[in-house]
Amino acid sequence: MNTTLAFDVYGTLIDTNGVQVLLEKFIPNKANIFSQTWRDKQLEYSFRRGHMQNYVGFEVCTSQALEYTCKFHDVDLSDEQKKELMAIYAVLPSFSDVKIALKRLKEKGFRIFAFSNGKKEAVEKLLVHAGIRDLFLDVVSVDDIKTFKPSPGAYAYFLRQAEAKSHEAWLISSNPFDVTGSISAGMNSAWIQRSPKAIFDPWEIQPTFTTNSLLDLAEKLND
Ligand code: 2OP
Repeated sequence: MNTTLAFDVYGTLIDTNGVQVLLEKFIPNKANIFSQTWRDKQLEYSFRRGHMQNYVGFEVCTSQALEYTCKFHDVDLSDEQKKELMAIYAVLPSFSDVKIALKRLKEKGFRIFAFSNGKKEAVEKLLVHAGIRDLFLDVVSVDDIKTFKPSPGAYAYFLRQAEAKSHEAWLISSNPFDVTGSISAGMNSAWIQRSPKAIFDPWEIQPTFTTNSLLDLAEKLND
């Protein structure tokens, strides 16, 4: 059937922990809580922008969330340090299971795409830098339609770009909002629980499949 797989990028394919390492250097005693607030606020801004229909690029959500987080945690980062933190998003590594798992899924006949809030150019560069760009048939960005996940329009746009039907497509993500959003839009979805502490929302919408590794997904998912 050549089932289509849409892989979320930040936090699913790409390990954002690298941001943490840099933050440890700048603010050792606040790095953990700072990066959590920054990520939560980055996503909150994308949700608000989508709902308000007042779109800006995901990198603007990220930089405005960085400003907010500095104020919230009373941290005074220099412009140089902020530039370094924003720049690291472009050179984060992939998780160790990505290459092997996606090769295995390709061998099984799956059609593999990257699907992200990030702009196509930024995601392309990130995947090239992480050495995994060749695993994907294409990179699809919500920037083309100027809204964000989990808007149903974002998933519909992906399906059009991938020439896939919703029931023959899976969204693979570590982000619960992405899993519930894609299932709500009619797709299947696997939740990749990248941290044992990660909690899935206690909603009536639950993942089609849950695992903590893409290797396990590659093992168990059959076309
Ligand atoms: C994405 O890559 C934000 O992780 C989310 O679209």
